[in-house]
Amino acid sequence: MRHGHAGTHLTTQELKRADAAAGEAAALDAADPLAGFAREFHHPHDSDGRKLLYFGGHSLGLQPKGAAAMIDQELSDWRRLGVLGHHEATRPWIPYHERAAPALADLAGALQGEVVAMNSLTVNLHLMMVSFFRPDATRNRVLIESSAFPSDRYAVVSQLEFHGLNANQNLIELQPRPGERTLRTEDMIERIEQEGARLALVLLPGVQYLTGQSLDMQALIAAARRAGASVGVDLAHAIGNTILRLHDWNPDFAVWCSYKYLNAGPGAVGGCFVHERHAKNFQLPRFAGWWGHNKAERFLYDPSFDPIDGAQGWQISNPPILSTAPLLASLEIFQRAGMPALRRKSIALTGFMQRLIEERLSAAVEIITPKDPEQRGCQLSLRIARPAAAAKRCLVQLIAEGVVGDWREPDVLRLAPIPLYNSFADVHAAVDTLARALRP
Ligand SMILES: Cc1ncc(COP(=O)(O)O)c(C=O)c1O
Repeated sequence: MRHGHAGTHLTTQELKRADAAAGEAAALDAADPLAGFAREFHHPHDSDGRKLLYFGGHSLGLQPKGAAAMIDQELSDWRRLGVLGHHEATRPWIPYHERAAPALADLAGALQGEVVAMNSLTVNLHLMMVSFFRPDATRNRVLIESSAFPSDRYAVVSQLEFHGLNANQNLIELQPRPGERTLRTEDMIERIEQEGARLALVLLPGVQYLTGQSLDMQALIAAARRAGASVGVDLAHAIGNTILRLHDWNPDFAVWCSYKYLNAGPGAVGGCFVHERHAKNFQLPRFAGWWGHNKAERFLYDPSFDPIDGAQGWQISNPPILSTAPLLASLEIFQRAGMPALRRKSIALTGFMQRLIEERLSAAVEIITPKDPEQRGCQLSLRIARPAAAAKRCLVQLIAEGVVGDWREPDVLRLAPIPLYNSFADVHAAVDTLARALRP
């Protein structure tokens, strides 16, 4: 039987401890004011119809039950209205994506004019670098973290090469100290200060995808700006996960995808933040398209480009209605739950997982995510202290037993308890399963 003790060889003491933790999980769930939100999501099942223990929300969030109706509405309006739907659909398509702005602004800690739902993350990163990575003869280096998500690194290196620069001389990849897995703010700031006037762009992860570390954005952005560099933030693993205050933190730009913590579905429309101080900076070079053009005159087909103020001025194409519809369904849930309450539950949920792992598995599992809740979001990254092949066997067993997490080479198992749809009982059952998978 999955998700239980049968078929395992736990000692009496281990069983007692597991039962106490199960009781504690049940009490925490009973007291959880957000517990009801789990019913608003479709939970995946295995081929025998058993609910999976889903901890993969850092990769692809679960489907909100309201998403299908939102998409159906657009399909129906398209069937019914054809092109007239641009103006006459239940939610007219021309300004459709603007419906996401209030909730995105809340989640990003931004003004509505600073955010826009558009494209996907890496595309937005390129568009932002066109405007905010402007190297010259002396200021021509980009600073990122080592083991940055490969797409970010590819994008940065290709932009360097586009400007006739190269990764060997112009890319700085900040490493953790020897023997450490996560970055120290003071080391990062020191390096930013050392690079000083050579730095053209600092690109920071909101939450680092591999380690789950959440950096001190405020301090790092301030340091980069003191150095005179542009600053961008990749919020793929941060938006909908941690509390963000982009407007106050004052980076130049931020980009994100919506299929992880925002639960908007595979390949859903992403998002972009451009700080208000650039809202009317029409001198910045940008790659233009008609959707960034003055809305009142968009259909007059004026040959010269007149950008909209703010983030919307960076749009290129008309919005993808079918991939924006589930985002609207999901954001409505975020608006009801409220990010402060979600974050409070997330801290408790991930803290519970950490504690159970430490109590039961400290010899076999190293948690590489920082222990301080201020320095992480939902995700815990675990290093299984086994040779690679044995660690992978453990992962295979976890999956066979119905726990969905993921593996990142060379040695990291990522599990993210999500406050909108995971319970404390889910966390307990997952750690129980991990304990069995790790038994020799
Ligand atoms: C940190 C980070 N950056 C960039 C990406 C790439 O996103 P996209 O395929 O939407 O461009 C991902 C995707 O998982 C990511 O985790």
